[in-house]
Amino acid sequence: MKVLIVEDDMATRKGLEESIKDLGGEPFSVGTAKEAGKALGEFDPRILIVDIHLPDGDGIEILKLAREADPDREGIVITGQGSIDNAIEALRAGAFDYLLKPLRPAQLEVVFNRLADRRRLETEVETLRAELQETGRLGDLVGRSEAMSRIFDVIRRVARSNAPVLITGASGSGKEVAARTIHRLSRRAGKPFVAFNCGAISPTLIESELFGHERGSFTGAEKRRLGYFEEAMGGTLFLDEITEMGAELQVKLLRVLEDKTLRRVGGSQELKVDVRLISATNRDPKDAIREGKLREDLYYRLNVFPLSLPTLAERPDDIPILAEYFRKLIEEQERAGVIGWEPRGLDLLQSYSWPGNVRELRNVVHRAYVMTEGKTIRPEVVEALLPRAELKPAATRKKAAPRKEKAAAGRRK
Ligand SMILES: Nc1ncnc2c1ncn2[C@@H]1O[C@H](COP(=O)(O)OP(=O)(O)OP(=O)(O)O)[C@@H](O)[C@H]1O
Ligand SMILES: [Mg+2]
Repeated sequence: MKVLIVEDDMATRKGLEESIKDLGGEPFSVGTAKEAGKALGEFDPRILIVDIHLPDGDGIEILKLAREADPDREGIVITGQGSIDNAIEALRAGAFDYLLKPLRPAQLEVVFNRLADRRRLETEVETLRAELQETGRLGDLVGRSEAMSRIFDVIRRVARSNAPVLITGASGSGKEVAARTIHRLSRRAGKPFVAFNCGAISPTLIESELFGHERGSFTGAEKRRLGYFEEAMGGTLFLDEITEMGAELQVKLLRVLEDKTLRRVGGSQELKVDVRLISATNRDPKDAIREGKLREDLYYRLNVFPLSLPTLAERPDDIPILAEYFRKLIEEQERAGVIGWEPRGLDLLQSYSWPGNVRELRNVVHRAYVMTEGKTIRPEVVEALLPRAELKPAATRKKAAPRKEKAAAGRRK
């Protein structure tokens, strides 16, 4: 990364050059506004570090010029004499940050990391937006229906914040993919995404799995172990099947969320927690509260941003695009050669009620792919894979209102 330093004080200049090299950048430095003007064209920096007071001019003016020529350039303003006016002017010129001399290398590193994070995020968001327009995709989520477009909007908004999200939706409706997509679009994308299924582990072990334990804290704890919270540090922790967590542990989780600190099992040290929490359940949380499976106080903490995913039956418009998306994915895993669908095959998929939602669709597409002999997937192959009784007759298909499948709610993988 090319960094232009505009600074007349030799010592500061040399110090900056060193720090930038240490950070993997390519520095070029000048001492006057005139030289800086020349370097903008010839060196073409991506980042400028400018001192405000130069012998022949003003660093902020240089920054303005640089950004007028190329708005993607970033500027950091440094000065020996801090003043509110200077700071405001620097921000107006589009400076990314404003630092006071003397600079410490660590300070610069922090700013550079933040810059890198922002760039990465911007590129990612751009790619994803382009993807969405082209193919009806946001991250790994596919869909063009109105219901999914609304979900995409919410996800984009939610991704910008740090608030906890509670995702509800029937089994196979895409809760985990949605959680990953939120993470990918967020500032935390460069940090870990850790998924933990509260229903898949014995209640006695969950606490130590989540919060970690110190050596010797219980029989069998031979070594210190980091919990999922610590593994997810700086990133996102996805707690699936949250209602399967015992009531006692729900209290502990609530405390961690409130205090933003945790203690390993058997530990005395308080550890700071910087983790974005996304939780999910395929039950109705209100029912779970009524049945005593979910503590109400925890629910309010987790549900700052509710995200409720529609069943596949509620958005039949998405079925063809999802089916084609899965066919392509499967083509990469299986022998190549099945290149598409006969239209009637896709019609049939749309006439089924999909109690297992998108997961079931994916499985059916996979089986249809494997069963196909020719180049396109034929309706007979699809029909043989779907329970006959569940197919709507072709004539009523279009008119049939989206159905809510009661049975889907409690279904497991
Ligand atoms: N909108 C979508 N676009 C693309 N793939 C999807 C979408 N929704 C779900 N899937 C795929 O369907 C499968 C099931 O999704 P996922 O595991 O996210 O469901 P879930 O809601 O977490 O289910 P469960 O409640 O059973 O855990 C995965 O293979 C996932 O990639
Ligand atoms: Mg899941």
